[in-house]
Formats: sequence, C-alpha cells, structure tokens
Amino acid sequence: MLSRLPRPSHPDLLVGFETNDDAGVFRLSPELALVQTVDFFTPMVDDPYAFGQIAVANAVSDLYAMGARPLTGLNIVGFPVGDVPTEFLSEILRGGADKAAEAGVVVLGGHTVDDAEPKFGMAVTGLVHPDRVITNSGGKAGDRLVLTKPLGVGIISTALKRDRAPADLVARATATMAELNRAASEAMIEIGVHAATDVTGFGLLGHLLEMMRGSGTGARLEASRVPVFPEAVDLARQDVIPGGTRQNLSHVQPVLVPAPDLDPGLLAVLADAQTSGGLLMAVPPGHLEALHTALSSRGVTGHAIGELTEGDRLVVRP
Ligand code: CO
Ligand code: CO
Ligand code: CO
Repeated sequence: MLSRLPRPSHPDLLVGFETNDDAGVFRLSPELALVQTVDFFTPMVDDPYAFGQIAVANAVSDLYAMGARPLTGLNIVGFPVGDVPTEFLSEILRGGADKAAEAGVVVLGGHTVDDAEPKFGMAVTGLVHPDRVITNSGGKAGDRLVLTKPLGVGIISTALKRDRAPADLVARATATMAELNRAASEAMIEIGVHAATDVTGFGLLGHLLEMMRGSGTGARLEASRVPVFPEAVDLARQDVIPGGTRQNLSHVQPVLVPAPDLDPGLLAVLADAQTSGGLLMAVPPGHLEALHTALSSRGVTGHAIGELTEGDRLVVRP
C-alpha cells in the first residue's frame, strides 16, 4: 500500500518505509537520531489488562529491533462507547501503562475515538546514535540467525477464538507476548549484529524474507531448531490456521524451498503471524557465542536457527 505513496526525501531521513524496516529513523544531529513507530490492533486475548500489556510490548518492540532506546509514547484507543463497560477500557490502559513503565516509556497522552470494536496501541518515540542504527538490511551471507521467542501465538489466538485452546496454553502464549524485547535488544547492542527485526505480522518466514531482500542474501533455516509452541504445530495440523498466516505462506512461496519431508504443521508455524514476537538477528559467526552469553546473562534464550546464504532462496530443512 505504501509503495504507491511518494517517497519522502530528506538529507536527515536515515530509514524510511521503502525497506519495510521496523521503525523510521530521522537524524537530529550527528550524535542523535529520532526513531518512531506506531502499532495498534483489536484484542487477541480475553483479559483486557494482558491485552494492554501486549499492545505496548508489541509497539515498543520495533524500537528495540532498531537498537533504539524508547523514550515517550502516545496511546491510541478505539472504543465502542456505551457497548462495553468502561472498566474494560481502564484495564487495557492500566496494562499498557504498566508495560510502558517497565520499558521506561513516559506516556505523554493519547487519543480515543468511538469505534465498533475495541482497539489499542501506542505511537512510540526513541533515540539512537545515527551510526548505531540496526536495520533489517545489513545482513551478510554466512551470518548466523538467532531468534528469541517461540512461534505459534497467532495460531493459539485463533484456537482461543474457536474455543480450542486450553487455559494454560493461552496463559503461556500471553506471557510470551507480554514480554519486552528490551533484554534481547541490550544484548545485541552490546555484542554487535549485522541486522535485526522483530517477528510480527509476516511471521518468521515473511520477516526473514524482508531481511534477505534488504541484505541481498538467501537463507537456510533448520526447522527443528526453531523455538515453537508444540501445541501450535498440532493445531496447525488440524487446520487451525489464521488467514494472515496462510497469506504469509503464499507470500514467501516464490522463493521457498522446503524439504520434502517437512511437517506442514511446522511450516505453518514458521509462517504464523505473530503479535509481539521475538527478535530475529543476523550475527557474524565469530560473535555467536558471545551473543548467546550476553542473552542468557539477561535471562533470554537465543536459538541459533540457521544462517544467511548466497543467492535469494529461503531453504527450510527439517
Ligand atoms: Co517490527
Ligand atoms: Co510495527
Ligand atoms: Co486528540
């Protein structure tokens, strides 16, 4: 959709929308650049407080993926005035405020409109040194790919809507989505990575494809090493697959080379549209060990799931 808009050009515009990066970056001075992003959506869980937390963790994640330090936020709210009790909205906002505080984001205000369905999210602004912006287009062939959160929360949310997700599974998926990518971001800034992005609506395969196109590389994934909710693989085998996840699969189809014996349920999870997913990083092989250490010392598990390659294919091994 954005491709039809005129491309803004400005000497201080460092990252615009043409590379489908996580956030826009605008240089204020040789030492300082502004990083801005906005995200909002309808609830994917029933608990309004958890939804508020997830929406903010998801919005601020785009800044973490760019290596930026989040600073301020503005709430964006759509609410069916009169149709839903106002406590529902105040719980969403309380969850959002608590998550923003955890991220060190100062909420300056926001805007609410009357809307048929509740929606919540945040416009977040952060800062980064102009020379230390981490984009999705700096990867090199041979870089190892590291992912931090398990995949499958889109499938689990769809199962929840169809009353097919057990409460404990929803609780685990909710906890994953509500978790900030801050620690993962700090670790990758400390070690230095070539490229990074967060895994959200396009799924692992879709966001990896953006990284491949931006970096001019192909990629090879070892599917068995990718962290997933095993229940999501089972649900996908039973055809509990969100529309967005199916679209992601067909979007990557032209470059996808799946192993013939790859489990179709697992392939669906690799393409599953995530909310507030983990960071996907491309790290030079010599830094992989140090990245693992920096992540685990902050309580984050980094999974080495494959590597960037020459060419333009996305090969998925079983
Ligand atoms: Co993103
Ligand atoms: Co975003
Ligand atoms: Co206003």
